[in-house]
Amino acid sequence: MSRFAEPQDAAFRRLNDSIGFDWRLSPYDVDQSIAHATMLAEQGIISEADGAELRRGLEQVRSELTDGTFPFADGDEDIHMAIERRVTEIVGRVGGRLHTARSRNDQVATDVAMFVRAHAHEALERLSRLGRTLVDVAERHLDWPMPGYTHLQRAQPIYLSHHLLAYFWMVARDIRRFEAVIAATGRLPLGAGALAGVNFDTDRRAVAAALGFAGVAENSVDAVSNRDFVLDYLAAAATCATHLSRLGAEIVLWSTEEFGFCEVSDAWASGSSIMPQKKNPDAAELLRAKAPRLVSNLVALHGVMHGLPLTYNKDMQEDKEPLFDSCDTLELCLDAATGMLETITFRRERLATAAGDQFLAATDIADLLVRRGVPFREAHGVVAGLVRQALQSGKLLSDLTPAELTAQSPALDEEFYRLLQDGAWLETKVSEGGTSLARVREQLERARAALR
Ligand code: ARG
Repeated sequence: MSRFAEPQDAAFRRLNDSIGFDWRLSPYDVDQSIAHATMLAEQGIISEADGAELRRGLEQVRSELTDGTFPFADGDEDIHMAIERRVTEIVGRVGGRLHTARSRNDQVATDVAMFVRAHAHEALERLSRLGRTLVDVAERHLDWPMPGYTHLQRAQPIYLSHHLLAYFWMVARDIRRFEAVIAATGRLPLGAGALAGVNFDTDRRAVAAALGFAGVAENSVDAVSNRDFVLDYLAAAATCATHLSRLGAEIVLWSTEEFGFCEVSDAWASGSSIMPQKKNPDAAELLRAKAPRLVSNLVALHGVMHGLPLTYNKDMQEDKEPLFDSCDTLELCLDAATGMLETITFRRERLATAAGDQFLAATDIADLLVRRGVPFREAHGVVAGLVRQALQSGKLLSDLTPAELTAQSPALDEEFYRLLQDGAWLETKVSEGGTSLARVREQLERARAALR
């Protein structure tokens, strides 16, 4: 019997069915159903024999799903109903006992929590690999000077290793974020029933332990309403993708002939259909472009959840596609970032020439004056005057005569020329976290320790 006298409209079904995407929850749905059936039998809510039959049916469903022979049926609204239907086809009437003391509301929340946990682990594994790659590449380019930029204007020279390690620390923070995501999935929703709890003496803790949850959700109403862990995953993924987009953007820029700082390997580039000379850093461009999509997935689910009355609403079915898309996109981007970095070539000469721009020593000249007792703000003005004079006369700073220097400030002496010697002003950045080699070595040590 059905409550409904009329069949569902075809367009309603297309709108309402989630089987087209939530089939991806199937391994988790099978695991949780096995844990649930086992608990029901252990608690004497169903017989041991029925528990064993349900497990047999579920194991067959699992192998059908893995080898691609699972027979999806026309009426399957979602993966939960499809699996229950199939179990009943396999084991007969006993299949109808599987949904005892359970609702799709606590079931779907549990599947999604398990999916999020698994993919947070996927992200962590990939982030560790990317982190290790960044440290390795940094180590190989330890003392390669390059210009550091602000406003994309040459600002102060740094070592390439130092610049690359900046991305390592972003990755390290991403790792923390995904660890927090895993913690957020730690409480089992199953056992909440539709919303109020169930009419049976279930053992939720046993199910939690069997499925790798640290504990059970404290409140059945919250348990079926909660999608925080999805939001947390989407937020962590959006931030991580934003980091990758900045890496991608820099590699795109650095690969131009104008910069010429690096070249991605052929394996990570494409050619042009019309211009034979071209080698395009597509992977880096796509890393740059994917981030807003992951941000929009986060925003989409915030839109779904905000103002949503407790407890379950069908709106929440909309958690899945953004989640799946963010997982797929992020995992692919992390693999791509790692692969591209493992094979990238940097061009030492081009980096060094750009870093040798004497104007990059302007701050250091100002600091020289500071050490001679000139207040920093005044020193800033003196050096600005020198830069202006050099630009106007088309000279290098080192071409300015001692007379021209003392005209700007009597405190400018021979030391000025020494300071302008190649690279000298990189090694003066000795403050903790700065670019001097000793500090970068220290940083590499810490990065390696963080990876362990
Ligand atoms: N397909 C549904 C979802 O993804 C499963 C839960 C359905 N619950 C319900 N009360 N209709 O959210």
